[in-house]
Formats: sequence, C-alpha cells, structure tokens
Amino acid sequence: MDNSNDIIIEAWNTVLFEKFCRFKHLLVDGLSQHSDAAFEQCIHPQGSRVLDVGCGFGDSTLRIAKRVGSSGEAIGVDCAENFVRAAQAEARKQDVQNARFFVGDVQWGDLRGPYDHAFARFGTMFFEMPGAAMRNIRKALNPGGTFLQIVWRQREDNPWLHDAELRVKEIVPVISHEETDQVHCGPGPFSMSGPDMVSTMLRGAGFERITFERFDCDICIGRDLDDAIEFAMALGPAGEIIRLAGQEGETRKPQVVAALKKAFAEFARPDGVWAPSSTWFISATNPG
Ligand SMILES: C[S@@+](CC[C@H](N)C(=O)[O-])C[C@H]1O[C@@H](n2cnc3c(N)ncnc32)[C@H](O)[C@@H]1O
Repeated sequence: MDNSNDIIIEAWNTVLFEKFCRFKHLLVDGLSQHSDAAFEQCIHPQGSRVLDVGCGFGDSTLRIAKRVGSSGEAIGVDCAENFVRAAQAEARKQDVQNARFFVGDVQWGDLRGPYDHAFARFGTMFFEMPGAAMRNIRKALNPGGTFLQIVWRQREDNPWLHDAELRVKEIVPVISHEETDQVHCGPGPFSMSGPDMVSTMLRGAGFERITFERFDCDICIGRDLDDAIEFAMALGPAGEIIRLAGQEGETRKPQVVAALKKAFAEFARPDGVWAPSSTWFISATNPG
C-alpha cells in the first residue's frame, strides 16, 4: 500500500471492523448515549437531507432517517465497505426506506450533496487530513447547513480509554505507526479533543458560528470486569498498542489483564462496569 490513507481504510475494513462486531453490544449502546443527548438539541427537520459521516454500523443514520421522516433522507458514508454492508443490511431488516449508505473517503470523495445538515458520531477523529475532510463536508452542505460532530474530549475525562492506555504502556513496548507496516486506525480518538485546534481547522475549512458544548455521562464498558478488560485490550489506544506490538503484546497479556483488573475495579457495579466518559458536541455552519 503506497498511500497512508489506504492503510487506515484497510484497518477499518478488516481488523477494526471485526473488533467492532465483537464488541457491538458495548459500542452501539455506549456511543448512543452521546448521540441521543446531541439529537435532543440538534434540529433535523422533517423533509431534510442529512449526511452521517463515518457512519459505521449506521445505527445513528437510521435514527436520523426516522427524525427526518419519509419526505427526508439520511445518507451514511463510510470508507470501509464492510461497515456500509452491515448498515445496509440493518436498514433492510428494520425496513427503513429513507436511509442510504455508500462507500467513500470523506477527505476527498464525492459526498453526493447537497445536504441540509451533516452529522458525525466519532466519525471524524481518524482522518489523516482532517482539514481537507472538513472542507469537503462543508462543500457538500447547502448555505446555512450545519455540521454537528461528536468527538471525545480530553483523555483525563475518559479514563476507560486513558487509564487502560497508561497501564498498557507500562507493560507493552509502544510501536509507532511509522515503525510498522501493519494497518492502523489513523490519528486516534483524542485527535479532535482540543477546541482551539479544531475551531481553527473548521474556520480554515470555511465554517462559521463554531460552538463547543461539553457532555458527560457514565457508559457501560463491560457486562463484567472480564468483558471490560477484553474490550480495552481489543480497541482504543490500549488495544492498538497491544496489536501493533505483535507477539510481544500477546506474551504480556497476562500482566495487562492483572493491571486492568486493578484499574477498572472502581468502575464495577452489579449491572456491569460503568466508567465516566466526556465528549464535545461541536456545531458549525456553512455560510455558503
Ligand atoms: C469510531 S468509528 C465510529 C462509527 C460510528 N459513527 C459510530 O459512532 O458507531 C469511526 C468510523 O469512521 C470511518 N472512517 C474513518 N476514516 C474515514 C474516512 N476517511 N472516510 C470515511 N469514513 C471514515 C471508519 O470506517 C469507522 O466506521
């Protein structure tokens, strides 16, 4: 593969898709808590056409399709064909007629606009060229169209990802993306956590009226401690460190399990393992 974005797309279409399928029970429910709160305050009027950026399994796209009604349309785009196929199958299963999905790279692909609004739930943090992606999204919007994206805030307020990363880094050698020819997820979940950097990027992409609103909630990261540990060792920064370390990562898993058991103990409840999480709802308008 000669293009670093091909590597990222390959990762989302293969190893990360498989892991997302394995932990769908935690991902969809946990992430929906953030999008449900965002949907309460974002307006997707009946009849509007809305793009869902980096739609993954498409559950948020289907929610939007219901919000805009049969006269409107929700369109999910994702660079990974396997996610798009899964989303299409779910739309058929639920008989949602006004949701469509297509495979595309949001950074420079044709986004099939114009749209009245765009939305992204954790779909914008893995771009190699985020500025190009923001500009491409803005160009696909009608004048006055808004883009609402949900991204993780700072690491310290997301201990389910950050504590796991710190514990794993103490045990497993970190291999950088440049040092490996393995596929990887791209910049990572905290790449859009800094409001100054992100607002400058959105302005540079031509957006106006940029606002950030913080949202916090506890999310379920495991049915029990074992599930939470498996989840952390598979996905997020900790999971990526273990995977990229190859055999070394596998060998050190027993130590990682012991360390994560300690780190996550404080989050265990009778109904599962629940940890604090924190996001930005970032809103921006295309002036036209
Ligand atoms: C963390 S997942 C979020 C999925 C979904 N929005 C959700 O909340 O469950 C990030 C998604 O962005 C997609 N993605 C990453 N880079 C992309 C790109 N350049 N263009 C389109 N989609 C991309 C991935 O394939 C993946 O489905």
